[in-house]
Amino acid sequence: MNYNIAVIRGDGIGPEIVTEAVRALDAAAKRFGFSLTYRDVPMGGCAIDEFGTPLPKDTVSVCKDSDAVLLGAVGGPKWETLPGHLRPEAGLLGIRAALGLYANLRPAVLFDPLRDACPLKPEIVSGGLDILMVRELTGGIYFGERGRSTGERGEEAYDTERYSTFEIERIGRIGFESARKRSKKLTSVDKANVLESSRLWRETMHRLAKEYPDVACDDMLVDNAAMQLVRNPARFDVVVTSNLFGDILSDEASMITGSIGMLPSASLGGGTLGLYEPIHGSAPDIAGTDAANPLATILSAAMLLRYSLNQPQAADAIDRAVAKALDEGYRTADIAAGRRAIGTREMGKIVCRLIETT
Ligand code: IPM
Ligand code: MG
Repeated sequence: MNYNIAVIRGDGIGPEIVTEAVRALDAAAKRFGFSLTYRDVPMGGCAIDEFGTPLPKDTVSVCKDSDAVLLGAVGGPKWETLPGHLRPEAGLLGIRAALGLYANLRPAVLFDPLRDACPLKPEIVSGGLDILMVRELTGGIYFGERGRSTGERGEEAYDTERYSTFEIERIGRIGFESARKRSKKLTSVDKANVLESSRLWRETMHRLAKEYPDVACDDMLVDNAAMQLVRNPARFDVVVTSNLFGDILSDEASMITGSIGMLPSASLGGGTLGLYEPIHGSAPDIAGTDAANPLATILSAAMLLRYSLNQPQAADAIDRAVAKALDEGYRTADIAAGRRAIGTREMGKIVCRLIETT
């Protein structure tokens, strides 16, 4: 069995963390008897430099022809002054839209040995933490009409949040289906006390809830959700929310797990093709210094095996290896909390060894 993986290394720490994730994939493939063929494709700042566009057409077609896409991170100060549609981030939004990846799954798990890296009081996370953020990914304010104009008091700018019932329903179903596979608890996050788009979101979720009587579903306003995440994070299991709220809340959830360097993500659409990336950015300040935490990308590779390649044993082996590496006390700088830190390469090596043996 051979699978084709499109690889977008991107900018900043992207290439370093992707290298370790590819090694982890190869170790898992070797152990479970399948093979992977990789095709590197440009996107983001490096694509702007080389091709004048953050998302070359060839990149989209190679991704479409692959079984899955593995992505590092894009962006950096070098491209920050470019107009919005030419920035590296436009490449990321573009590929998500081009592949129809409307559902972004972001599991936030507090690994037991990382409790000391969690900034919350121990009693708040004593019961552990295991949240699945389901973020809508191809709609809302990220893709709505935007522009600039001159008003009575000078320059103005606007972005619009627009959601259709269709879009809310399909992400809502992913939320309910995910909850069914876990503890059957779903929280839908919106801002229905102010936003009309959120009122449609809430109505739609309530209608859907009738189809999933086995799932306990509640609503929460996003400002309250931001508060509850640090006050009582264990009250959450699956959270379903819009593109913007999901972006913000998943960064917050990641911090509770010790570091943003720990959170993987899977972006899925109608079929099995998915895009897998850590939720963090390109961290240009530490690029090239072997200091980045590769675990979020390695865990994203495990999600790739699980969701796109249907290789759950190989995925489990990577998940186990990461947990074991942490158990054995290995830490990159972001999760070291006073301990000795190892580099990106070293962490990758340790995880590969553990994939082969645990
Ligand atoms: C993320 C990132 C991206 C997003 C940026 C880089 C466009 O923050 O994946 O969470 O907002 O979706
Ligand atoms: Mg983000």
